[in-house]
Amino acid sequence: MISLIAANWKMNKSLKEGVEFMNELNNKMNEIKDKIKDKEILICPPFTLLQELKKIKHDSIKLGAQNCYSEESGAFTGEVSAVMLKDFCEYVILGHSERRSHFKETNQMINKKIKIVVKNNLKPILCVGETANERKKNKAKDVIQTQLKTCLKNITENEIKKTTIAYEPIWAIGTGKTATPQEAQEIHDFIRKELRDMYSEGTAMNIRIIYGGSINPENIKELMQQRDINGGLVGGAGLDVKSFVEIIKNI
Ligand code: PGA
Repeated sequence: MISLIAANWKMNKSLKEGVEFMNELNNKMNEIKDKIKDKEILICPPFTLLQELKKIKHDSIKLGAQNCYSEESGAFTGEVSAVMLKDFCEYVILGHSERRSHFKETNQMINKKIKIVVKNNLKPILCVGETANERKKNKAKDVIQTQLKTCLKNITENEIKKTTIAYEPIWAIGTGKTATPQEAQEIHDFIRKELRDMYSEGTAMNIRIIYGGSINPENIKELMQQRDINGGLVGGAGLDVKSFVEIIKNI
């Protein structure tokens, strides 16, 4: 399976900063071309940077959005749709825990977004994960099972094949506290089994399940040695070219 290594810039970087990052990363891509053969490199900047970064990016870098709305067009002030995004990018992150907590996105809303994203030939990255409290109460798997079942309701086998699942324990996001490789593997294995029950063994084996939450150039090495970890969704460390390139090299 081709690993996916994605940087989620969140609400960071002006046009100038985004262009500087991309120019620097473009230069590095030639240097590390032997290290990226079996990897997909993805940058998810704010909407405002997609158009310019698409023009200047190296061929082996892909672009994604961090969210989109669940309708294709209409009176939804401030929103951006999949129809608009498909001119600029290939992937869309959906259901990130910051969308769920700050903007009250529900599993049902995320389900509608996945439908509209695949309909427009974009690839969703569905984020799931539990809070610290849910983990403490031994509820992590229940929470993730509900997220998967509701977010993927009526998503067909063909549609799920275009989807990546990102396991992002909320307690690990932006905290410097990564899940141990064993903790992450246990949940990735659980997610794959759920996908097998919802679809088929063959399909579940081919869906990428990536990990996110305080990834850095060091901890990525052992995480990637786990059987069911197929890549990473990087926040903070993906804002800096040097650390992002180190992560790519260490995958
Ligand atoms: P982090 O963010 O790497 O800064 O923890 C990950 C994410 O939110 O996707």
